[in-house]
Amino acid sequence: MNVLLTGGAGFIGSHTAIILSERGHDIVVLDNFSNSKPSVIQRIERITGRSCPCEEADLTDAEAVDAVFRRWKFDAVIHFAGFKAVGESVEKPLEYYENNLIGTLKLMEAMTNHDVGDIIFSSSATVYRGDSPAPYYEDYPLGASNPYGWTKVMIERMLRDVCAADSRWAAVLLRYFNPIGAHPSGLLGEDPNGIPNNLLPYVAKVAVGELPVVRIFGDDYDTPDGTGVRDYIHVMDLARGHLLALDYIRTRRGCFSFNLGTGKGYSVKEVVAAFERACGKPLPSRIDPRRAGDLPEIYANVDLARKELGFSAEFGLSEMCADAWNWQRRSSSASEGL
Ligand code: WQD
Repeated sequence: MNVLLTGGAGFIGSHTAIILSERGHDIVVLDNFSNSKPSVIQRIERITGRSCPCEEADLTDAEAVDAVFRRWKFDAVIHFAGFKAVGESVEKPLEYYENNLIGTLKLMEAMTNHDVGDIIFSSSATVYRGDSPAPYYEDYPLGASNPYGWTKVMIERMLRDVCAADSRWAAVLLRYFNPIGAHPSGLLGEDPNGIPNNLLPYVAKVAVGELPVVRIFGDDYDTPDGTGVRDYIHVMDLARGHLLALDYIRTRRGCFSFNLGTGKGYSVKEVVAAFERACGKPLPSRIDPRRAGDLPEIYANVDLARKELGFSAEFGLSEMCADAWNWQRRSSSASEGL
């Protein structure tokens, strides 16, 4: 299939590009490189040995998006592009609503104008209201605690309504829990701009000496060791979930949502200990105050993805940390060499 990956130069998008290309799909990446690097495209081509055409465009630019659809004949779209920092979305809500919602609307209009009705959407566990008991099920109530999360809830709603109105559409909403890890080659991984917001890339930068100490945001939660519990999933498992979702809608119409997680929760302290084992050294850490908006515990129920998509995560926390460490030390030594 000819597949457009919006935001395909990003962390999840680039790993999905590799899985799709290696399976024989012909992919095109559309990215504005606001939170990714053009060099990722060459790395995708180096790993797969196949071409990865790239269109530099912003989804809010309707003419540019339509031009991409005029240049290529797509069978499906996987929509990763969007701003995704929770804290930043609280400070800059208008930027998040314009970029994420208007960008998605322009994409959906271009799809309609060019008879492309199949879409896989990069959604998130952040769409769930935080007052439910884990594990989280797909029919749990939705409701976000920040503008970023609300954009994901609203985009899911837009896709559900379009699928209900027009039987030519089919959408799969993949609700990611906590994607971490890297491609086993060490050539591709999570590479956020600036100081990482998320736990794993922060710990990795402490391990290579780029940051001084791991800050543990609170150890007084109602969890086994007092620190926050999350469902970490290897980015390669997550990428494979997209391949299965693409196959799923080849024979179905309508809108479907699935959790992509492992179904198991790990605490902050367990993740730090796993990373220490991966990098072979103890890491300095300290207990900081809780971070506003953090939930004590959230992990997925993955029965529906297993039953409908045939999806189940293959990698455990040790592989996730080993691959993340392999990526971090290679990319850090490479940057030192520059
Ligand atoms: C994980 C745990 C923190 C950093 C976010 C988004 C979610 C998704 C994944 C996009 C929590 C603790 C963190 C640190 C820490 N992104 N922590 N020190 O908040 O579960 O989810 O990223 O879709 O939408 O909400 O991920 O990695 O930030 O935090 O102690 O320096 O680690 O309190 O318990 P989170 P995270």
